[in-house]
Amino acid sequence: MGFELKKYLAEKKQEIEKFIVSYFNPSIIPKILHESVLYSLTAGGKRLRPILCIASYEACDGKKNIVPYATAIEFIHTYSLIHDDLPAMDNDDLRRGKPTNHKVFGEGIAILAGDGLLTEAFTILSNPEYADINPAILLKVINEISKAAGLRGMVAGQAYDLISEGKEPDENIVKFIHSYKTAAMIKASVKSGAILAEASEEKIYHLEVYGQSIGLAFQIIDDILDIEGTTEEMGKPKGSDIERGKMTYPKVFGIEKSKEEARLLIEKALQEIEIFGDKAEPLREIAKFIISRTN
Ligand code: IPE
Ligand code: IPE
Ligand code: MG
Ligand code: MG
Ligand code: MG
Repeated sequence: MGFELKKYLAEKKQEIEKFIVSYFNPSIIPKILHESVLYSLTAGGKRLRPILCIASYEACDGKKNIVPYATAIEFIHTYSLIHDDLPAMDNDDLRRGKPTNHKVFGEGIAILAGDGLLTEAFTILSNPEYADINPAILLKVINEISKAAGLRGMVAGQAYDLISEGKEPDENIVKFIHSYKTAAMIKASVKSGAILAEASEEKIYHLEVYGQSIGLAFQIIDDILDIEGTTEEMGKPKGSDIERGKMTYPKVFGIEKSKEEARLLIEKALQEIEIFGDKAEPLREIAKFIISRTN
């Protein structure tokens, strides 16, 4: 009894942020690039993906400190946000409550900061020494994360997101966009935790379905917050999707149906992890948090 999500999230966030600040050796990185990377990495953010990776690892009885590997996923996520905000993409000026990376450092450095973060993530993931992990296990994790981030995952979703701006609402297209641009990385975060813990195929499968469901719900809620949230709470501009004519769930299904869909997806996710019992309490509370969140 008495699992406190707030405390759990704060503790994990602190461990992740400790790793981030200790990680970079500035001596070989040009000062402006180093500042740019750290600017976005330390701007805050919920750290949802690395926390999901750790929570999944723990639900599968993992006992090592996998924070570095989980944080590598946050590097990829942060790169995706820096690029997502560029003028050539969503053209947004505010992120994590601060001016976007390109507004401060210029587009060229922002692009390179993203490139650097994406690549550096694999420097971490391919190093077994952080937690004495079997290299064959890390190879599996790298395969999952690279697929989820690349042309078969997030990048494909982001491309569909861009080319669907201003297009007629289409149920299949919006589901595709959201599954790839957002759910793929969230699913891979959860799955990677299970792989690192050397969980059974059955457990991995249930966690995958959980990850896909909360991932899709997460983006549906993100779309709803673009309409109903506040810039102040979200730390990013409200109404950005409408301004860009984005293909969002509310645009395709309406607000109420989108909320209902998000609720059903969370219900499905919760059912999927019943077999884990008490060990999945953090995963359960995170799933519920995803639909109640305001940022
Ligand atoms: C924002 O992700 C991008 C989406 C996929 C909707 P988050 O809402 O997790 O952003 P941070 O990391 O907390 O800033
Ligand atoms: C972004 O989706 C998904 C990414 C892969 C970065 P959005 O464009 O809706 O994310 P926000 O609203 O800018 O955070
Ligand atoms: Mg976008
Ligand atoms: Mg955006
Ligand atoms: Mg959005």
